[in-house]
Amino acid sequence: MCGIVGYIGSREAAPLLLNALKRLEYRGYDSAGMAVIKESLHVLKKKGSVSNLEELMKESGADMMGATLGIAHTRWATHGDPSDRNAHPHMNVANDIALIHNGIVENYSILKQELIAQRYVFKSDTDSEVLVHLIDRIWKADPSLDLEGAVRMALRHVEGAYGLCIISSREPDKIVVARKGSPLVIGIGTGEFFIASDAAPIVEHTNKVVYLADGEMAIVTRDNYTVKTIENVEQEKRVTELDFSLEKIEKGGFKDFMLKEIFEQPEVMRDVMRGRVRLEDGRVQLGGIEDYLDRLKQAKRIVICACGTSWHAGLIGEYLIEEFARIPVEVDYASEFRYRNPIVGSDDVVIVISQSGETADTLAALRLAKEKGAMVLGICNVVGSTIARETLCGIYTHAGPEVGVASTKAFTAQVIVLFMLAMALSKGRTISHDEIRLNLRELVEVPEKVSQILEQNDVIREIAIKLKDASNALYLGRGYNFPVALEGALKLKEISYIHAEGYPAAEMKHGPIALIDEDMPVIFIATRDNTYTKILSNIEEVRSRKGKVIAIASEGDREVSRLADHVIYIPQASAPVLPLLTVIPLQLLAYHIATLRGCNVDRPRNLAKSVTVE
Ligand code: G6P
Repeated sequence: MCGIVGYIGSREAAPLLLNALKRLEYRGYDSAGMAVIKESLHVLKKKGSVSNLEELMKESGADMMGATLGIAHTRWATHGDPSDRNAHPHMNVANDIALIHNGIVENYSILKQELIAQRYVFKSDTDSEVLVHLIDRIWKADPSLDLEGAVRMALRHVEGAYGLCIISSREPDKIVVARKGSPLVIGIGTGEFFIASDAAPIVEHTNKVVYLADGEMAIVTRDNYTVKTIENVEQEKRVTELDFSLEKIEKGGFKDFMLKEIFEQPEVMRDVMRGRVRLEDGRVQLGGIEDYLDRLKQAKRIVICACGTSWHAGLIGEYLIEEFARIPVEVDYASEFRYRNPIVGSDDVVIVISQSGETADTLAALRLAKEKGAMVLGICNVVGSTIARETLCGIYTHAGPEVGVASTKAFTAQVIVLFMLAMALSKGRTISHDEIRLNLRELVEVPEKVSQILEQNDVIREIAIKLKDASNALYLGRGYNFPVALEGALKLKEISYIHAEGYPAAEMKHGPIALIDEDMPVIFIATRDNTYTKILSNIEEVRSRKGKVIAIASEGDREVSRLADHVIYIPQASAPVLPLLTVIPLQLLAYHIATLRGCNVDRPRNLAKSVTVE
């Protein structure tokens, strides 16, 4: 999510680091900062784009000139709004240690309480700041340690994910880095080293890199680097030669951001659940709504308002919350809700879902719901966005910046959040502890199953070749897969400009069946759930009218393969988690059809990533 860079050598560090930060801008950011050592630490940080930091450096960066070692960071907020004070680096009180961090410290609130009790003063709302105070405390308690030792000891207390770079003016010729769950790469130059969260900012300086593995640290000095495990065992590392173009690296080796974001989903899904799904004790912990959970459970009704893909996630939320928490749910287009004088009041909870947190209609729905006295909960991806700020409480999706206009990873992250919310609302009320545990187990198995589906990318592309010249397409599903049919159709029309419609499969005979002929591909989501046999009958109906059938089916299903022209198999799973699996082949299918038609999938015509006007 965030971007990390570090430099140690003989060149002027500040301009080099600034340039490196610009190379990481594609990741999305909300603030940036830098620390260099020139005798003491010099730190500058600024909300907004890297150019804001650049301006600040022009005004007050004179002290930084001459430094040949430093670290810098672009932040994409997870804990604490985007602001100057929440930007990295974070410093200890004595201002002689600076740290930048990627990832999430899951146990930060316990650590923070301990540190506050020991009179540590926090200057930001981030989870990351606890790390620098923790290192400081350990180092003070045992001055015989060096920076590396203090970092190593500190990491023993940390749960969660990190990519870390730490410098100290007490050891001014060294950068200490550590990785767990958040990538870090060291670039090897001549008499200089570069550190970064991916190779994009390094490639213009050197093509020799060493990738750190999870659980590894590195100590980088001006003339050497040593890689060790966090347990202090030295590691032999292979030097890799990069042969990527810069552009390719920015997209993580993928052709487009959309494809990168589709493939990122297993990792994103784990991020969404990290620290929240407590399998051992069969519960979920959602910090942003904890104080309101009792009130939420007492809701007479839940109204979900959203637009576009987020509205589709809302429909799945309806199925989940009604099935498990037994609270009636209505799902409304935010644009309709705001203009139809809706009946909502203090007994209702309104959930607004928005990737960007800035969609004008969703924001207006939120304000109207508040005005009418409803309790409003937000599910947003962008931290500190307007919707996130204006809701009473909320759950961030933590999907990282989504660049492709057609939403993919933000959608699956929203569905996971809604799943966790449904479990939180059910706990102690409507379903047993064991049932919750069982559901959560199904959920944590999803990322691995998604990886298996992604392995079929080539098979899906072959099917796309057959469909690329279609003018229309019909997507059909039932139950939990009905909203997925809508989302599959939306993906196709957004990026390939093929007219597509999604329907609940049983509705086909009330209209769409009139359209079916040999030119109409029909994409069925025909997984094994309680409507499976009904779907088989619908497939027969399409076949007898010569429609082309593409089916998403459960692994091992022979019946569907007998009936369909093409089958994409997904691993077995329980019905409530199925949308997280069945949507993946539909994203890939739309992607391949669109690229085969020569469309720009990242920036489809007439569409905007964030619709801030009505
Ligand atoms: C636009 C985007 C969609 C998105 C919708 C809602 O139409 O192109 O991908 O689903 O807005 O956006 P939000 O940020 O509120 O989720």
